[in-house]
Amino acid sequence: MCVTAQQTTVTAGRQPILRLDGLSVRFAGRREPTTVLDGLSLDVAPGSITALTGASGSGKSLTCLAILGLLPPRALATGRIVLDGHAYDADNIGGLAGLRGATVSLILQDPAASLNPVRRIGGQIAETVRFWHPELAKPAIRDRAAALLDAVGLGATDGFLERYPHQLSGGQNQRVMAALALASGARLVLADEPTSALDPKTAHGLLSLFDRLRREQGMSFLLISHDMDSVVQYADRIYRVTEGRASEVSVEAAKEPWIEALP
Ligand SMILES: Nc1ncnc2c1ncn2[C@@H]1O[C@H](COP(=O)(O)OP(=O)(O)O)[C@@H](O)[C@H]1O
Ligand SMILES: [Mg+2]
Repeated sequence: MCVTAQQTTVTAGRQPILRLDGLSVRFAGRREPTTVLDGLSLDVAPGSITALTGASGSGKSLTCLAILGLLPPRALATGRIVLDGHAYDADNIGGLAGLRGATVSLILQDPAASLNPVRRIGGQIAETVRFWHPELAKPAIRDRAAALLDAVGLGATDGFLERYPHQLSGGQNQRVMAALALASGARLVLADEPTSALDPKTAHGLLSLFDRLRREQGMSFLLISHDMDSVVQYADRIYRVTEGRASEVSVEAAKEPWIEALP
């Protein structure tokens, strides 16, 4: 990746929290490069849940990594990304420096991979609060950690602060990830198949939490999911990735493969 493009600030207004404009990602091969994304464009409106669907291997996870400047070194990326008013080129990770965490946060399918297994949940949340709010004293940090767990439906009174990740269910750990996103003040959450390891009831619980955070805190979500039932229920807008591009699909069209799959 080269760091050549200039970072520019787009004038504020009712602009999307995220705009991808012609994002392309190729991998250098022995003979010729493999193109995975080929001019993908999409908008995520502030305070929305925008879904990104598409077949396995269509490039949804790579889209998230490109936004965060975390593509593997062999990937060649082009295109423009506008995140919270800051525009940068997809191959310019320098443009992202101050934006990760404060603006954008990532929730993955396996929260255990992102949480530290040997540290209590409370300590991990407190550490994130302290990082983003160094001015706060210890008791205020503890109060904030408890309030964050409350906000994601894990009441601190139930002793969650003292527990370790392995003592929580998959759905509870996903809520901890949402609390960490809140702790960092993230305005956009990239959620890459956050419910695929959860049972349907827990999955709906997590998506209702996203919906509440969207309504009450104005957070925005780019929700990658295969679960069309949830997507049509929770998403304001649905994109499908095919042949490296994203096209917007109506709720009715998004339901189609699911209907076809019925006997
Ligand atoms: N490091 C890599 N090197 C080469 N190809 C890769 C690499 N990472 C992903 N790919 C290819 O990019 C495509 C899209 O991957 P991914 O974004 O993970 O798909 P999705 O999340 O939609 O299932 C896949 O076909 C995969 O083979
Ligand atoms: Mg993926």
